[in-house]
Amino acid sequence: MPGDYLFAEVARRVQAYEPVAPRPLIRLGIGDVTQPLAPAIVEAMVRATQEMGSPGGFHGYPPEQGHAFLRHAIVEAEYAPLGVQLELDEVFVSDGAKTDTSALPELLAADARVGVTDPVYPAYVDANAMAGRLGRYRRGAWSELVTLPCRAENGFVPELPTRPLDLLYLCYPNNPTGTVLTREQLARFVGYALETETLIVFDAAYKAYVTDPAIPRSIYEIPGADRVAIECCSFSKSAGFTGTRCAYTIVPKALVGRAGGKKVDLNTLWRRRAACRHNGVSYPVQRAAQAALSPEGRAQVAAQVRTYTDNAHRIVAALRGAGLEVFGGLHAPYVWLRTPGGQGSWEFFDRLLHQAQVVGTPGSGFGPAGEGYLRLTAFNTAERTREALERVLAFVDAEGR
Ligand code: MLT
Repeated sequence: MPGDYLFAEVARRVQAYEPVAPRPLIRLGIGDVTQPLAPAIVEAMVRATQEMGSPGGFHGYPPEQGHAFLRHAIVEAEYAPLGVQLELDEVFVSDGAKTDTSALPELLAADARVGVTDPVYPAYVDANAMAGRLGRYRRGAWSELVTLPCRAENGFVPELPTRPLDLLYLCYPNNPTGTVLTREQLARFVGYALETETLIVFDAAYKAYVTDPAIPRSIYEIPGADRVAIECCSFSKSAGFTGTRCAYTIVPKALVGRAGGKKVDLNTLWRRRAACRHNGVSYPVQRAAQAALSPEGRAQVAAQVRTYTDNAHRIVAALRGAGLEVFGGLHAPYVWLRTPGGQGSWEFFDRLLHQAQVVGTPGSGFGPAGEGYLRLTAFNTAERTREALERVLAFVDAEGR
């Protein structure tokens, strides 16, 4: 494996600098939330923990797909309003979208051909590289990985793959660029996947940030997607579960793969894998996740998401106002900033860290097409975000003079 995992390398540089920094650092780097868990979530977790400590309320191993109460809440609260009908056994509860997006390739043959957008959330690439599927790493690229570049020049909309694939990862709203696909743009990918029998792993971890109904929150809003797509979602960025851990993956029963000319039902295969690999998510956490989907919980977490969205909008407006080129940040908690003066991503990251004491994430860490960009997250508090912007603008101003 080349180098370190992106966020580990960022953390290493930050830790080395922090003790000698002239003022506290402001972190707009890794997409980790900052607001405390909402009251409805905490109450449910406390109640469930007390239940676990009572003779009649103890729960041992959870069901491998997750408790029915949570899967039911997911189907009703997350999909029914979009007009997407799911059955309970199409929903799999897990501890994270990272866990599932990394593990889903286990459904495929060892030599499956994998495609990703570039830049991309690095876990998809690293997990497939660790599985030995991506060939050799030379001059910053994997020989067997198909990449679909997303740059300002193509509006961050990937072209359809021109080489045959077995698996294509899509993440929308996008991490890291913060951009989105319209219904028509996503439908092109579903059409392509149906035509070419390509499995799409759709990472919808940031769907809570979509405010325009014209932008799909789920790939299953596109007709036919249930025959080609697995969707991964998370409570991390919608309900502040980055430390609590709970997520879910939809594997539709309509989804079939092929092995030796025979059809393979991927829902059954994923259940088989889940039962073998892990023991699920703890009862109190599943109750907490259920509470996040209750009417009271939804209102509370929506207010939190709005705070982050406001931060993102503020970052976009302030940086644009200073003449910088920025993308994303409207339906996503990430803002993608073109580095001023054509600086390299790591160079700009280091300068921002050392001169403004603000932590971003270098765009090149997400793939070659991310070179020349820096990602900022909207997950800090409103106050720290404002202060970070003042620092960034002062730094950019000083650089320009
Ligand atoms: C990110 O910063 O890209 C995410 O927080 C990473 C993650 O969700 O694992």
